[in-house]
Amino acid sequence: MKIPFNKPIIFGNEKKYLEQVFINDQFSGNGFFTKKCNDLIEAKTGTKKCIMTSSCTDALEMTSLLSGIEPGDEVIMPSFTFVSTASAFELRRAKIVWCDIRPDTKNIDETKIEALITDRTKAIVAVHYAGVACEMDKIVELCKKYDLLLIEDSAQAIDCKYNDKYLGTFGDLATYSFHETKNIQCGEGGALLVNNPSLVERSEFIRDKGTNRIQFNQGKVDKYTWVELGSSYLMSELQAAFLYSQLENSTEINNSRLKSWNLYYKYLSEFMPEGSLPIIPENCIHNAHMFYIMVDNFDTRSRMIEYLSKKGVLAIFHYVPLHNAPYWKGKYEDIHLPVTEKVSSTLLRLPLFYGITEDEIMYIVQAIKEFTEG
Ligand SMILES: Cc1ncc(COP(=O)(O)O)c(C=O)c1O
Repeated sequence: MKIPFNKPIIFGNEKKYLEQVFINDQFSGNGFFTKKCNDLIEAKTGTKKCIMTSSCTDALEMTSLLSGIEPGDEVIMPSFTFVSTASAFELRRAKIVWCDIRPDTKNIDETKIEALITDRTKAIVAVHYAGVACEMDKIVELCKKYDLLLIEDSAQAIDCKYNDKYLGTFGDLATYSFHETKNIQCGEGGALLVNNPSLVERSEFIRDKGTNRIQFNQGKVDKYTWVELGSSYLMSELQAAFLYSQLENSTEINNSRLKSWNLYYKYLSEFMPEGSLPIIPENCIHNAHMFYIMVDNFDTRSRMIEYLSKKGVLAIFHYVPLHNAPYWKGKYEDIHLPVTEKVSSTLLRLPLFYGITEDEIMYIVQAIKEFTEG
């Protein structure tokens, strides 16, 4: 058997909607399908403004511009994340302040944030790992107490909830990813959710190369001009049409993934030691973006990857902590984040995609069992 790590999903109406773009004869951004995606996300989440972008990386760069970060301003975030979470702020010459993560959810450890806050702290970035929420009550409270911007990197967290409220709606700003590795995808794509009403107008300028083109389109000005520092962050209509079909079906897609996730959990918990399976706090609803297991050490993980690979199963590790990445090392001060480093060297992600069969899951579980029983 050969089981890939991921299979990008094509669900239903992608082709039909792409043909509609040809008929509409508008291919650039902010057209018919972009508006449909915006409306759907706004109606579902209740965010003030959703802006479709060509990636989550773009949406994160927009959050950095919107934050008004000056060189030397500090931004607190986990190091166990994708490079874009940090590079968006590094581009603005912010000082990135790494916070360690929790051993259970692998999310930023909210109990360690307050000690990192200084007079220069401008924002906290909460990354919801695997679509499982950070401890938002505490993080929101800290942001209020110290008057900090809250940004959620919800790249993996479409349709997830914390205390029955959608992830992506807690922060002043939040981002989603629609990269082909995500539950809902359009190849490359993302969205910025603007929850703080005072940031809505600027977010539209920043998306449009820093111009007030939106006001021109609305007939509010007779020509548009450069009003902000921005860039070209728009999603094209081709991406939006493809994506809209997936967004319409996100509940079905995520429910199917959740069934597969639960099968992994059920079969693996029969023999895996305590603490080696994902922990989902009771007040969190996740979207089965990922199934991972924790093993004893780096060497066991390397051997397990090799064993599974021989069995035709592609299992992979995840983030190399950013504070240990070549870009960071040598350029900035060395720090030690014990939980981040341990998790990074012992977490193993298993294949999970829409349409993975129970037989495939049982085959993978059996291979893990054989490996652990040596
Ligand atoms: C936590 C996180 N943030 C940001 C990104 C970047 O997303 P994109 O590829 O859409 O730019 C990813 C991508 O995997 C991610 O996992």
